[in-house]
Amino acid sequence: MPTINAIMIIQLCVLVAAFPAQYLLSQWYGADSTQSLQLIERWLIGYWNNFRWSYLGQNAWTRYLKHQMVKMRNWYNEGEEYIHAYFAEPTRIRSPRPESVQFKVGMVIMHKQLGYSGVIIGWDVEARAPEEWLKQKYPPEKQYLRKSPHYRILVNKSNRIGISTAYIAEENLKVITGYEVFHPDLKVYFSKYDGAKYIMQPWLKQIYPHD
Ligand SMILES: *[C@@H]1O[C@H](CO)[C@@H](O)[C@H](O)[C@H]1NC(C)=O
Repeated sequence: MPTINAIMIIQLCVLVAAFPAQYLLSQWYGADSTQSLQLIERWLIGYWNNFRWSYLGQNAWTRYLKHQMVKMRNWYNEGEEYIHAYFAEPTRIRSPRPESVQFKVGMVIMHKQLGYSGVIIGWDVEARAPEEWLKQKYPPEKQYLRKSPHYRILVNKSNRIGISTAYIAEENLKVITGYEVFHPDLKVYFSKYDGAKYIMQPWLKQIYPHD
């Protein structure tokens, strides 16, 4: 028998934490409790011996930890990219400006079908949103809209729908002028309204330099 060292104790802790005790207890709930305990004990000893001898020697354990750390780091990076890339989130500079994108940041718009209005705070050349969201949003005959420019909107506060931001396909928008938008975050994005459109704050202008 090798002596028990710190690594092994850590391994044991992990093992015990992972042990599905609740499952086993629920399986044996109502059965004779002494018998249940003996079964659990036997199972644990068997599992531990197996575990100790087979795959988690010190080197294997170190390798495993390293692997987990790399995995976590990658997951974190991918996760960041994943979340922030959706719904015209302002993370990268939109230059050059594609011709297919008709409307500009700062323009006041109205939703053609739903009637609510708001101001554009960002755009994507085509929809960037979770697959599930897009499936739900567009019926099969409207799925082509996914390939068209999409705009992120701060919705005028006094709408009856109760939403404060929206992500809308170009086809569903029309530009309106002469109406101001009221929204608690307006000052984050714009410095003023010039009578026709909103003037971007410097940080937003950096992201949309041609708008
Ligand atoms: C936003 O709501 C206010 C208050 O109802 C209204 O005066 C304004 O014209 C609306 N703006 C737009 C762009 O519809």
